[in-house]
Amino acid sequence: MTIRYGGDYNPEQWPREVWDDDVRLMQRGGVNLATVAVFSWARLEPRPGEYDFGWLDDVLDTLHAGGIRVDLATATASPPPWLAKLHPETLPVTQDGVRLSVGSRQQYCPSSPVYRDYARRLVERLVERYAGHPALELWHVNNEYGCHVSRCYCDVSATAFRAWLEAQYGSIDELNRAWGTAFWSQHYDSFDEVEPPRTAPTLGNPTQLLDFDRFSSDELLACYLAEVEVIRAGSDVPITTNFMGFFKPVDYWKWAPHVDVVSDDTYPDPADPDSPAYGAMVHDLMRSLGGGAPWILMEQSPSAVNWRARNAPKAPGQMRAWSYQSVARGADGILFFQWRQSAAGSEKFHSGMVPHGGTETRVWREIEQLGGELRRLSGPDTGIEGSRVPADVAITLDWDSWWAIEQPASPTTVSYLEVLFAWHRAFTSLGFAVDFVRADGDLTPYRVVVAPAHFVATDAEVSNLAAFAEAGGTLVVGFGTAVLDEHLHVRLGGYLGEPLRRALGLWIEEFAPPAGPDLRAGGGGTTPRVPIDGDVLGGAAMGSVWAEFVRTGDAETLASFTDGALAGWPAVTRRAVGGGGGWYVATLPEQPALTRLAERVAAEAGLERPEAVADGSDVEAVRRGELVFVINHGPDDARLLIDGTDVLTGAEASGSILAPHGVAIVADAQLS
Ligand code: GAL
Ligand code: ZN
Repeated sequence: MTIRYGGDYNPEQWPREVWDDDVRLMQRGGVNLATVAVFSWARLEPRPGEYDFGWLDDVLDTLHAGGIRVDLATATASPPPWLAKLHPETLPVTQDGVRLSVGSRQQYCPSSPVYRDYARRLVERLVERYAGHPALELWHVNNEYGCHVSRCYCDVSATAFRAWLEAQYGSIDELNRAWGTAFWSQHYDSFDEVEPPRTAPTLGNPTQLLDFDRFSSDELLACYLAEVEVIRAGSDVPITTNFMGFFKPVDYWKWAPHVDVVSDDTYPDPADPDSPAYGAMVHDLMRSLGGGAPWILMEQSPSAVNWRARNAPKAPGQMRAWSYQSVARGADGILFFQWRQSAAGSEKFHSGMVPHGGTETRVWREIEQLGGELRRLSGPDTGIEGSRVPADVAITLDWDSWWAIEQPASPTTVSYLEVLFAWHRAFTSLGFAVDFVRADGDLTPYRVVVAPAHFVATDAEVSNLAAFAEAGGTLVVGFGTAVLDEHLHVRLGGYLGEPLRRALGLWIEEFAPPAGPDLRAGGGGTTPRVPIDGDVLGGAAMGSVWAEFVRTGDAETLASFTDGALAGWPAVTRRAVGGGGGWYVATLPEQPALTRLAERVAAEAGLERPEAVADGSDVEAVRRGELVFVINHGPDDARLLIDGTDVLTGAEASGSILAPHGVAIVADAQLS
């Protein structure tokens, strides 16, 4: 095996004579995998039922002759215009009732049996024709499910939603109970009366909204599984579909068991200084979704994208540094969108591995350099491929909570991702590796589990978390956790509820989120904050997002709110059980304070903070297998403080200088 390197390849945008040049350049650039046919449906089936595979045969044969393997897409991500002409009901409808048109991409209703049927037929033909092709390495089902159309409110979807609800609840009485329809005269007499949550006069039914989120994620998954079924019937080649990091509309925990290898598309903004930290979190999720197995970075940009208001190019070295960040966090493949930068169409200003300017360009030189390096790093000797990233700390991630806590009519405005990011960053900035877990998953491999804003909790989840704390693990529960059950009914008798109440030694009486006139003015201005204080936070600090009146029982208060109605109430508590126990954090402390808190939590859990491997201001260090990856994201040079050999240069690591965006991969690492 070698580390995969390559990108989306769209030869149908180019004359035939360019294809040979492509293969020649791919070889020169170290490319060994090309993703083909992602948007080729209109070329493969120019008229309903009339297929044209000649050109794709040529593409696959040409790549194969050049030694390039193929990640073959099923081409179902964007139906040809004829489908809409023939079956206008396959076009998706927005919440406001607008039917989306052809002329862009992804214009299909995920619930449409007509779309699914045409998609299935195309996939049958592709499998029949290419399952035995010697270049085939991977099946790439569809593309970025839900990227543009993740929710459809059309009549076809409405019918499918009713069937989904009937399967969930069995009877309309059960639905009425779960949805709490005694409220606002919402009682339904039959499933026929139920609609998707289309635009309505004011606040919709929260459980209806949540069920529609679940349904919509499931419908996309059903599209994926329908294609997988066809492929498995005719091919043994592994299957993937490209995820999109922390993508709110789709519950990837449900998808992950159905992909043979996790793959991801990620486009952090080169102009955003938070991008390396955010990228780290995304990569950790991908590794976690696959249960720790290596994953593939399926798409990143060689330099600028074209879909932000302002599109910064990647700085010299930045693409390489971020690529190694993915490898460090478990990727065994580095691919790009796309191979040759388009000359026409709405992505012509999106960078490509082969830019408009050709090979006498910085972007190409960096592509070629990285390809050469990855080729040298491939193989059993360096020990990269297949190796794992061990983690003692895990953070729970829950799509139900994400969907529900961001609904309107909640105690305050919360960005679930911002909360997760803050916690992830607190631990990773201390050098700890972090996994993401399901709250009802196996927590036993971890010493510390953080459950931030786990708003919606099933009985199984609360028991699992509480059991972890009681069995000697260190559980950290963040505000707004276990407030609701899976139907969004309040867990009565004080928020948090049993058995977490017992495990943490407290309950929550009332929410008191920081607020201010700026929110009334539409969210502009400064973020409302609330002062907190305690040694565990490093002294006085600010909290934001949320605050609560916490009623402690046998928990010890380690930090408190210091102002207003909350003055003197607990902000951070701990109930010790053996070496572990349960921490509670009733607000979101600002980053330095949260990092101090994370350090204390880790220390009390018996985790030693990894020693610094370099002296720079923003240096990331990750252990993967036997290697330590060191990446300088900061603006200044950093000096390595670690003994061992840099496998990129063959030189002794200790004392060597990493320029900004510099990378070292240290074998036989020892702290000096
Ligand atoms: C992805 C997509 C690619 C391309 C890319 C541009 O979302 O899968 O086809 O559009 O974005 O950044
Ligand atoms: Zn629809």
